[in-house]
Amino acid sequence: MKAIRLDYGNFMAPRLPGGVEPTELSTLLAPAFESALSVVSAWREQGRLGFLDLPYASDSVARVAELAGRYRESFDDIVVLGIGGSSLGAIALREALLGPFWNQQSAGQRDHFPRLHVLDNPDPHTYRALMNQIDPARTLFNVVSKSGATAETMAQYLVVREHLDEAVGPDHAPSHFLFTTDAANGALRQIGEAEGLAMLPLPDNVGGRFSVLSPVGLLPAAACGADIGALLSGAAEMESRCRGDALDSNPAGTLAALLHHADTGQGRTIHVMMPYADRLRSTALWFQQLWAESLGKTTSHSGEDRPTGPTPLAALGATDQHSLLQLLMEGPADKVVLFIAVDDPGADVPIPRRHSEIDALSYLGGHSLGGLLASEHIATAEALRRAGRPNATIHLPAVDAHALGQLIMLLEIATVLAAPLYGVDPLDQPGVELGKQLTYGLMGREGVPAPEIAEVDPRWVL
Ligand code: PA5
Repeated sequence: MKAIRLDYGNFMAPRLPGGVEPTELSTLLAPAFESALSVVSAWREQGRLGFLDLPYASDSVARVAELAGRYRESFDDIVVLGIGGSSLGAIALREALLGPFWNQQSAGQRDHFPRLHVLDNPDPHTYRALMNQIDPARTLFNVVSKSGATAETMAQYLVVREHLDEAVGPDHAPSHFLFTTDAANGALRQIGEAEGLAMLPLPDNVGGRFSVLSPVGLLPAAACGADIGALLSGAAEMESRCRGDALDSNPAGTLAALLHHADTGQGRTIHVMMPYADRLRSTALWFQQLWAESLGKTTSHSGEDRPTGPTPLAALGATDQHSLLQLLMEGPADKVVLFIAVDDPGADVPIPRRHSEIDALSYLGGHSLGGLLASEHIATAEALRRAGRPNATIHLPAVDAHALGQLIMLLEIATVLAAPLYGVDPLDQPGVELGKQLTYGLMGREGVPAPEIAEVDPRWVL
C-alpha cells in the first residue's frame, strides 16, 4: 500500500522568495516541535488522546462490522442525526469513499447498500424534504452525540421518534434507532438503556472532532460498504509514522510546525485547505472544524489572556480558482494554502480531439479531465510560489480508504501537535458554552434563567 507524501518545497527559501530558511527548520521549528511532542506524549500517557488508539480498537470495530452487516440487509436508508464532530466525519467518509452521487444511484448501482443521509442543522425545510423522500419502515436513524445532550441533535431525535412511533408503531420504532454515544453518561445513554435500544459506545477519551475513526464515522461508512479495515490500517500506518521525534521524518510535526510558524512568525493567519478532487471537498470542511475548534482559543501569555489560533478555510480546486485564487495571489499576504492532490484519479475521462481549428479547445484534445485537474494544481501551486505565497501539497496515491485513513490521522496528529505551539488545549471548546447556555435560556430549559439579550438601538436597524 502506498504512503501519502507531504511536499512542502513551496514553503522553503530560496525556492519560495522570502520562505523559511533551511537553517530555521533546525534552529527554530525543530526545537519547537520537540517540546510540542513531549507535551503530546505526556497527554498520550495520561490517556487523553484516545483517537490515536482507534485504529487498533478491534473489539469495537468487530461490533461495528456486525451491526453494519445487519443494517445493510434491513434498511434502504440510513439517516445520521448529529452535528459538528458528530456529523462532519461521516459526511467526509461518505463523499470520499462512496462517491459524489451515492444517494441518487439506483439500488443496483449501490450494490444494494443503503443510501446515507446526514441531518445536522435543525432546519425544518431540510428535515421535511428528507422525510418526504424516505420510507420510515425501511430507515435506520443513527443518533450520534458524545454528550447525549446537544440541543440540535436531541430536538431532531424527538421529532423523528414521534414520526416513527406514528409511522411504524411504538413497538417497532425502537428497532429503527441506533444511539452512538458516551459509554456511561448522558441523556441518550439513559434513554437507550431504559428502552433497550441498540447502542455503540464512544470511548471517554475521544471527543467529537477526533471521532471519525470511532463508531461515529465507521458505522455509517461500513453499513454502506466502505472498506473500514483499509481506512483503519491507513490510519495505523500514519500513527506509527508520526511517532518519530525527528522533525524531518515526521509529516504531522512538519505540517504543524510550518503552519504555526506561518501564522505566528509571518502573519499568515488564514490556512486554506484546497483539495483537487470533489470527493475530498467535505474532508476539507471536516479539517476546517478540527483546526478551528481545537486551536482557536484564549491562551495565557505572561499572565495575560490572549486570543490565539489560525483561521482555516475550506476551498476546492479547480472550482475556487474562479473564486478565491485572485485573493490568494494578490490579496493580503496573510494566507497559506495546503493543497491535496491525487496521483491516480481512478476512472478518468479522455477529452476527445475536436475543433482542431479553434485554439481555445484544440490543446485539450488527447488529454483527460483528471489530467486537466492535475495540471491546474501544479500550475496554481507554481503561480502562488512565484508570487511569494507559501503552499504545500499532500499527495494521495488515490482517493481510497487506505489513503483517507492516512490523511485523517495525519491531520488529527498535526492538530494536537500544533496545540502546544499555540499554548492551548486542543480537546476543549469553552468558547461555545455561553451560546449554548443562552439558547437553553431562550428555549426555557429547567434551571436556566431566560437571558437578557442586549437591546439594539433602532438607529442601527434598517
Ligand atoms: O468537536 C466537538 O467536540 C463538537 O463539534 C461536537 O462534536 C459537537 O458539539 C456535537 O457534540 P455531541 O457529539 O456531544 O452532540
